[in-house]
Amino acid sequence: MNSKQIKNTSITILEEVFGTTRDNVSVKSFTLKNEKGMEVSIITYGGIITSLKVPNKKGVSEDVVLGYNSLTDYEKSSPYFGALIGRYGNRIANGKFSIDGKEYSLKTNNDSNHLHGGVKGFDKVVWSAEVLKEKGALKLSYVSKDMEEGYPGNLHTEVIYTLTNDNTLVVDYKATTDKKTIVNLTQHSYFNLSGDFSKPILDHIVTINADKFVPVDKNLIPTGKLKDVANTPFDFRQPKTIGQEINAENEQLKRGLGYDHCWVLNDQNKGFRFISSAYEPNSGRLLEVFSSEPGVQLYTGNFLDGTLPNKQDGTYAHRTGFCLETQHYPDSPNQKEFPSTILKPEDVYLTKTSFKFSVK
Ligand code: GLA
Repeated sequence: MNSKQIKNTSITILEEVFGTTRDNVSVKSFTLKNEKGMEVSIITYGGIITSLKVPNKKGVSEDVVLGYNSLTDYEKSSPYFGALIGRYGNRIANGKFSIDGKEYSLKTNNDSNHLHGGVKGFDKVVWSAEVLKEKGALKLSYVSKDMEEGYPGNLHTEVIYTLTNDNTLVVDYKATTDKKTIVNLTQHSYFNLSGDFSKPILDHIVTINADKFVPVDKNLIPTGKLKDVANTPFDFRQPKTIGQEINAENEQLKRGLGYDHCWVLNDQNKGFRFISSAYEPNSGRLLEVFSSEPGVQLYTGNFLDGTLPNKQDGTYAHRTGFCLETQHYPDSPNQKEFPSTILKPEDVYLTKTSFKFSVK
């Protein structure tokens, strides 16, 4: 394997060849390693985090993100494992929206709706990579052409993954456009903090700092109303396992086949702040998520059904991973009351999310 070592003060970055796409484009892998036993591998295809190793309470580092061992598997079929999502995370109803009275039609890939950027979203393109040595970071860039998947404007996108020595992976997003457009970028890692991908994630104890969530219709499109989490299975303001109420008699849970909803995060005026945590008692691993975003989609791997191969010689069974996708609310371009996802040529889209790992 063609590899080259780049070392900065404390973060080591290893560059390797990961594979070649069907279209014959070479895909690289970058592994960022710190001094505390944390290591994260990212490939240029989809900006995918293919592996993220963190210590358990005994100091043993194990992989805690779902994914595949080969590029072929990612290209064949992936439910967005570990990928960067753009231009728009989650659904846009009927793939349609208007800006200043002009209607745009996006590619539809989820029945009649547009999901996670369309047929060939940011999860399926090859990004340019640049190692930021002094920062212990990897910068990925992608230029999405005017009208790609139906979106207006040439969108210049940059995502910087930074590993720190307190076992945090920081994800900084930046985008600029030359025409008014919409943007809502996110990261679609599936976590299983047990390090054992054959185990369901139902025993993970989760908190979400949100008083409200976004109810959806039967096609998982927001109804437009926000609902209080109080006295519903959507209340994660006090720690509770994912499994505690996931099978409760509840119309919203039925529609999502479990949790597949966006929470309206508190303290939106504070910018970058703590938003959510997940704790797995056996391993002692704790994940804390911080973000500047107004929402987070908790998706509990409800569509995983044992058909996709895992990295440990098995398959990914129902609910063996969960995602915390920080984002604006789904279908915001069609929902006047939701915070705006419009990006103007004179503005810069800047958001930040970080994933901090520790043991308890
Ligand atoms: C998001 C969506 C889900 C599903 C998953 C990936 O969380 O809301 O409906 O598409 O991604 O399968």
